[in-house]
Amino acid sequence: MASSRDRGGSVFLCFQLCFIVSHFLLSNNRVLAQRQPRFACDAVRDPGVSNYRFCDQTLDVESRVNDLMSRMTLEEKILNLINDARGAIRLGVPEYNWWSEALHGVSNAGRGTNFTAPVFAATSFPQVICTAASFNTSLFYTIGKVVSTEARAMYNAGVAGLTFWSPNVNIFRDPRWGRGQETPGEDPLLTSRYAISYVRGLQERDDGDKYRLKVGACCKHYTAYDLDNWKGIDRYHFNALVTEQDMSDTYQPPFRSCVTEANVASVMCSYNQVNGKPTCADADLLTGVIRNEWKLNGYISSDCDSLEVMFDSQHYTRTPEETAADALKAAAVQKGLAAEADVNRAVKNNFAMLMRLGFFDGDPRQHIYGNLGLNDICTLENQELAREAARQGFVLLKNSPGSLPLSPRATESIAVIGPNANVTKTMIGNYAGIPCRYTTPLQGIAAVVPETIYSPGCANVECVTAQVDDAKRIASTADATVLVVGADQSIEEESRDRIDISLPGQQTFLVQEVTKASKGPVILVIMSGGGMDVQFAKDDPKVTSILWIGYPGQAGGAALADILFGFYNPSGRLPMSWYPQSYVNNVDMTNMNMRPDPATGYPGRTYRFYRGPTVYTFGDGLSYSLFSHNLIKAQKLVSVPLGRHHFCKRFRCKSIDASEKTCKNVHVRVHLKVKNAGGMSGGHTVFLFSTPPGVHNAPQKQLLGFEKVFLTPKEEGIVRFHVDVCKHLSVVDKAGKRKLALGMHVLHVGSIKHYLMVSI
Ligand SMILES: *[C@@H]1O[C@H](CO)[C@@H](O)[C@H](O)[C@H]1NC(C)=O
Ligand SMILES: *[C@@H]1O[C@H](CO)[C@@H](O)[C@H](O)[C@H]1NC(C)=O
Ligand SMILES: *[C@@H]1O[C@H](CO)[C@@H](O)[C@H](O)[C@H]1NC(C)=O
Repeated sequence: MASSRDRGGSVFLCFQLCFIVSHFLLSNNRVLAQRQPRFACDAVRDPGVSNYRFCDQTLDVESRVNDLMSRMTLEEKILNLINDARGAIRLGVPEYNWWSEALHGVSNAGRGTNFTAPVFAATSFPQVICTAASFNTSLFYTIGKVVSTEARAMYNAGVAGLTFWSPNVNIFRDPRWGRGQETPGEDPLLTSRYAISYVRGLQERDDGDKYRLKVGACCKHYTAYDLDNWKGIDRYHFNALVTEQDMSDTYQPPFRSCVTEANVASVMCSYNQVNGKPTCADADLLTGVIRNEWKLNGYISSDCDSLEVMFDSQHYTRTPEETAADALKAAAVQKGLAAEADVNRAVKNNFAMLMRLGFFDGDPRQHIYGNLGLNDICTLENQELAREAARQGFVLLKNSPGSLPLSPRATESIAVIGPNANVTKTMIGNYAGIPCRYTTPLQGIAAVVPETIYSPGCANVECVTAQVDDAKRIASTADATVLVVGADQSIEEESRDRIDISLPGQQTFLVQEVTKASKGPVILVIMSGGGMDVQFAKDDPKVTSILWIGYPGQAGGAALADILFGFYNPSGRLPMSWYPQSYVNNVDMTNMNMRPDPATGYPGRTYRFYRGPTVYTFGDGLSYSLFSHNLIKAQKLVSVPLGRHHFCKRFRCKSIDASEKTCKNVHVRVHLKVKNAGGMSGGHTVFLFSTPPGVHNAPQKQLLGFEKVFLTPKEEGIVRFHVDVCKHLSVVDKAGKRKLALGMHVLHVGSIKHYLMVSI
């Protein structure tokens, strides 16, 4: 069972399980003689299964699950509570591994999916932080759809599961977080919209059946998880101290959207504690919020080795050895510590999910998606979408006149320099699979300009000693210089947060030396998940362009060439703030507070609250074209009707409850004319922000909506925002309750400021 990926903890799990399994096997020798079925309820291979009601596809899921449960022993049920579920061989139910991953393409990071005959690769899309920068929700959805199609094809081939523990919708609170790359960034609205679109793309079936799923997604890691390993503090021991206010308006919204709007199949609780309680043992956070308030129709899994979570606190020591918890749980049932009812409830949820996924419908090739196969994986179309996603996500941060785009004709030679200039695996980030192919930046550029000369400048991204001589020499004669620098998983990854946010090692020195020596324009390309302090390059007039490309996926180099040579107009916007190095010297990563604290000088976090210098900020991003905005419709006044006897009619209130009955359906329309005033077609994202009146420690600015339009030169488009006043303009008070502040709200639309008076 153990593969080379396993860590020590898993071996322990195996030991525990093997012990329990052998114990059961001894008491039931019949099991040993059974042959492993390939698919549950496969009447073609095993006619006996037709007698089982749980195999009857005309019955509803609940009756089928109840029938299955009635046939299983307690021991069998317990062995279906773990991610390596044992099924029930004697009933024709095969083993099932719940743990597959599909963060940005089908991945083999989980044990339920392997790249093995007959499927050796799958399309690898950009890492999420890069895709998020496109601010294009239909792109998020389309990627999800392609990923689930490839996943289904792999399932049919017997090399993947149906339950994928993606996406990661935690808020990228601190630039040092090693897993920030996996997330859609620092804004709760963008993260929510990403979660909804991607989860729907994964789960929704083409036949419109809302109950059954194409594959099951999982929103993780619930909740307030965004520290992995920083200065000796690790996620297994970290106690995140979170205020009700931050919980309600920052950490929870993506999870809520995921459950209530995308109907996600699963939520995974996180390793950390929140306010002294492990999230996976917190009945209020799990049952109270996810099941009762949000009405999850699915299962809750714990990170990373157990499925349905049970609330007996005795085994909650969240350590790396935690993977053994299930075995302990099973043992606990034996000793009567966990109620059998808990086991039943948990197993039922798991089986119900598998039924909705078609796992109990026999050979999947007889059903919808059954004809998906090798020809549906790594198709040219899918690979083109990976390239398109990268192009849409790249963010142009600086562009001096005469720099980008480079002319493919007039540029006769290019120097391509830097530790990330010819990388492959670096481009796909973490939770990746095996891509169909790679196009490195060097290969992408060389395909356009044959005279492309390369020098890595450093041995790797750590860049302990930069070798600048060769790099300077080629830059001094080439028509243009492209420096591809940044990070990889040795700098930022799961279990590795950064200490510094400058370019690693001597990369800054490399950039400076090469820039001084360059003959032509210098284009600085940063391949990274988190932001980098590149203030020096922003200030240096000889660095003529700066482009951030995230971890751009398998087609990253081709997409880069598309942007550099103007075959595609950049339209990405930063989904997170970039801070100066001084930030990490002054701000403790463990401080979860979003709001600044004047008493201690703590500056707060993200564009919504942070008061201090940034290198670049949320929403930054340039185009090769120019876009102008004109407000064509926007109210100046809106009032919420309150009953005559309402308290606030008699006393001055600074805000009212957003949950007031009369607060429903109060809307403001903001219509905007957007014009492409430049000479090149391109995408353009219009943001609608608000600055609420200064009560309840409100954000200085918050995103209410965004809309991306594509416009040809001189073309005009209309963007319409429909603002639900109580839902979107409200803020959260200290107790976590939504309040609508009365008074002047400032709406920021594009470059325009619009004043809106909210009264009663
Ligand atoms: C993947 O490989 C592991 C280890 O070799 C194996 O235990 C598992 O059953 C395989 N899963 C699939 C879906 O092929
Ligand atoms: C660039 O990387 C590719 C893929 O790893 C490799 O085949 C090629 O030799 C490299 N080119 C140079 C000039 O190092
Ligand atoms: C958003 O992405 C979709 C899917 O790739 C694409 O068709 C569309 O043009 C994009 N929208 C904009 C405004 O770029």
